[in-house]
Amino acid sequence: MTSISDIRIAPSILSADFADLGKEVQAIDKAGADYIHVDVMDGHFVPNITIGPNVVKALRPHSAKTFDVHLMISPVDPYIDAFADAGADIITVHPEAGAHVHRTLQSIRARGLKAGISLNPATPIDIVKNVIDLCDLVLIMTVNPGFGGQSFIPLIDKIRDAKAIIDTVDHPVDLQVDGGITPETAPIAKAAGANVLVAGTAVFRDGPDGYAKNIKAIREA
Ligand code: DX5
Ligand code: ZN
Repeated sequence: MTSISDIRIAPSILSADFADLGKEVQAIDKAGADYIHVDVMDGHFVPNITIGPNVVKALRPHSAKTFDVHLMISPVDPYIDAFADAGADIITVHPEAGAHVHRTLQSIRARGLKAGISLNPATPIDIVKNVIDLCDLVLIMTVNPGFGGQSFIPLIDKIRDAKAIIDTVDHPVDLQVDGGITPETAPIAKAAGANVLVAGTAVFRDGPDGYAKNIKAIREA
């Protein structure tokens, strides 16, 4: 079980006010976010379209916190440089998005960024074994990607299996869980080994005055 002090909270700006994203990023930074989780969607890999590298570039000056960029796009390789240039600190990619995730992770690291692999709910965890040496983050999706506000899919064994694979390497690897994280589901993810919790709806639902309280509630759940 990850202790409270080791838990990092990554609010997903998918649930933020898209008419005021710079202010929203400042607000969650001030409210105690550890990472800024940026959900990039292309309407092809997932049935939704959000933002691109130009928006990430525009948001970069609004926070010095880690920009944790989750690419739900296919193909992904043509855009790694654009997101790296825009100021991403972590780029997380899906193996389901293309044929060469090993090479994609290498290309992210070659840019001096942290590399993450994210698995859709049905994708077996075993794929991570072949690339864990290239990963700084493993992201277990506990919703089908594309939208915020969905219910947590309790993939507890999968999170545990991810932790077991992470424990086989010497370098630090974050175990991130993303989707349906609330004060009710956070303890389940933490008990299974997660140390980074992504939350959109549960952070943004009460407006800026509630961000600090909501982040705290998830962290301490
Ligand atoms: C879903 C995204 C998640 C989502 C989380 O495709 O990757 O990051 O925004 O939103 P909630 O916390 O509302 O499930
Ligand atoms: Zn995400």
